[in-house]
Amino acid sequence: MTSPVDAESAASDPETAEIRLGEKTLPLSVTEGTEGERAVDIGALRKDTGYITLDPGFGNTGACRSAITFIDGEKGILRYRGYPIEELAEHSTFLETAWLLMHGELPSKMELDDFVGDVTSHTMLNESFRKFMDALPRDAHPMPICAATVGALATFYQQPESEQSIRQTIVQLIAKMPTIAAYAYKHSLGQPFIYPRNDLDYSSNLIHMMFATPCAPFEVDPVVAKALDQLFILHADHEQNCSTSTVRLVGSSMANLFASISAGISALWGSLHGGANQKVVEMFEAIEKGGGDPEAYIARAKDPNDPTRLMGFGHRVYKNYDPRAAFLKDSCRQVLDRLDVSDKLLEIAQGLEEITLKDPYFVDRKLYPNVDFYSGVIYRALGIPVDAFTVMFAIGRLPGWIAQWIEMRNDPAFRIGRPRQIYTGANQRSYEGMSSR
Ligand code: SDX
Repeated sequence: MTSPVDAESAASDPETAEIRLGEKTLPLSVTEGTEGERAVDIGALRKDTGYITLDPGFGNTGACRSAITFIDGEKGILRYRGYPIEELAEHSTFLETAWLLMHGELPSKMELDDFVGDVTSHTMLNESFRKFMDALPRDAHPMPICAATVGALATFYQQPESEQSIRQTIVQLIAKMPTIAAYAYKHSLGQPFIYPRNDLDYSSNLIHMMFATPCAPFEVDPVVAKALDQLFILHADHEQNCSTSTVRLVGSSMANLFASISAGISALWGSLHGGANQKVVEMFEAIEKGGGDPEAYIARAKDPNDPTRLMGFGHRVYKNYDPRAAFLKDSCRQVLDRLDVSDKLLEIAQGLEEITLKDPYFVDRKLYPNVDFYSGVIYRALGIPVDAFTVMFAIGRLPGWIAQWIEMRNDPAFRIGRPRQIYTGANQRSYEGMSSR
């Protein structure tokens, strides 16, 4: 599987850093990545000084060395294993990109054919999952259904962990995720589950399982399938984001891959993370309902006393236009034209973007549209229900989570993740009986 990131391979820079604490000065080594990013290695800090660093939200803290995805937030660059995502979205397929992320190189024809064959022949879910899903409320959000079902997969595949069993788990996860997503959707409709079909490609199969019914033939529109495949490629990885860091942390305890991915799905659901794509469309719908003028909403988003945020805007890393948003903005128009769909929400999105790109509040804070800003308009055009938008994000992100989990396990510097803290609670005190409280 992925060749481990060799800690020595990240060129160590002759530059060093120094930290002065009272009388003590501690030299610290500086490490440099292959794209010139630099980090001060504080691995010896607590042992040598008793001090730790404090960085809530880890905005300035690197958790690992990784060779999977490179982001330049200032320049709006995103590459998977060195390949610009724009080229992969244009020319690759989701399963080929998944292989690239997990193995580090584009597959040969034979490797890809074998991988696609493996995935295709593992798309079915154990029939017991029908009862499992039936036990859940019809109006349940599909993200906890997906997290619970992926976690429950571990109860069906309990073999001891080995290279071979991990390879099998990877195929099972990538193969079954669309089936789980489609079953969750059918469950919400009270419609019969549609079994996967081995004669359809990955994205066409998902669309068929979601929208076909036993009552009439259903033809998958190749435009819809291609657009969905492209969306999966654009969501496939994004270095150490919240859900990926969750997958790594859970996996670092030696929890299995099913459990780690289930945790990642739950983290992705949050409205500040993957859940934003659903919130973006709900925001557009609220603006449309209010007459279509985004000014009032923007004013609330700028008001420091109002918790409202412009969903789909801003990013911890991108201080420029998210390259995925740029790509999706173009493909939005193309997909709607090809499907002959017009959607007022696209005009609202474009109008909102136009205003913010000139508004000092957003310009000064370098807040631009992120991946979630336009993706929801495309999902709507493809007929995906709004509460399944984040499920689509999870399907796309799955190979990235897996690649990061494997890299973490194979990293020579591997150890269980366990951040420190600065304690701010009560100092020692003795227990008082009820009579003295
Ligand atoms: C994803 O990390 C990843 O890579 C994630 C992701 C991936 O592929 O995995 O890219 C996917 O999660 C994209 C982000 C989706 N979330 C949203 O669109 C939710 C809306 N965005 C924000 O909540 C926010 O921008 C975050 C969460 C994305 C980033 O938050 P940060 O980095 O902690 O930034 P911050 O909250 O410190 O904001 C800095 C300033 C603040 O104002 P001041 O205190 O300086 O006055 O910018 C303001 C914030 O109030 N701000 C916003 C805003 N985002 C930041 N103000 C209004 N609307 C917003 N969307």
